[in-house]
Amino acid sequence: LDDPSADPFEVAKLAAAQLAEKTGVAKHDIALTLGSGWAKAADLIGETTAVIDATEIAGFSASAVVGHASTLRSILLPNGKHALVIGARTHFYEGHGVRRVAHSVRTAAAAGASVMVLTNGAGGIKETWKPGTPVLISDHLNLTAASPLEGATFIDLTDLYSQRLRDIAHTVDSTLDEGVYTQFRGPHYETPAEVQMARIMGGHIVGMSTALEAIAARQAGMEVLGMSLITNLAAGIQKTPLSHTEVLEAGRNAEAVISDLLARIVVKL
Ligand code: 6GU
Repeated sequence: LDDPSADPFEVAKLAAAQLAEKTGVAKHDIALTLGSGWAKAADLIGETTAVIDATEIAGFSASAVVGHASTLRSILLPNGKHALVIGARTHFYEGHGVRRVAHSVRTAAAAGASVMVLTNGAGGIKETWKPGTPVLISDHLNLTAASPLEGATFIDLTDLYSQRLRDIAHTVDSTLDEGVYTQFRGPHYETPAEVQMARIMGGHIVGMSTALEAIAARQAGMEVLGMSLITNLAAGIQKTPLSHTEVLEAGRNAEAVISDLLARIVVKL
């Protein structure tokens, strides 16, 4: 993937073929990227039939961030569908470029998935959100100044975070709130002024992932469901300094509840 002359879609096809071989599952119907706080969902959504070290699959590398696993799991859902769980997200801030960021989504599409579930741990801009609150992503602001697409690829992003899938999520939990996810490059958290900028622009959630992946998923023709776990309030909204430790702890505390919620949603998608 780091070779500029390589076609990222060919690498994704190769990765999907390797996955099919190693998992024994020819087609995965749905894919999930589990971010901070969501990992337990993998144990709840169904029966794991294969766990693959992501480094064995073309285009993937070991995760650099503490608290992020690097495995790809094939799971048989109670409804008979096959889910691919991606525990190996590459963040844009790691500096490996947008191809690596988009690769897991493209691999999922090449593996047959028509639905992409993107989850993350993120900061909240709405004061009413307590740490531990799950929020559906209704749209995004991509403030990375990057795109996973290359060349003249003018794709439409209307309804990127599928209304149909959000409606399904609401049938599982009618109290779920929605918000506009704002992707910053990171890896530092935002300044209070940047959080106010995001708020004024219409953002409700701040994070460092998801938007670029959602764009790649749309390009690949997938429907996207996005969910954030609010692990903390954003800088200046909460009065105490932010820490990665605090973010991980909030994730651990909320994990059982939100993973159960996600599992109940996933069987209906
Ligand atoms: Cl406040 N900002 C960003 N960018 N990512 C986060 C966060 C905040 N809290 C958890 N993840």
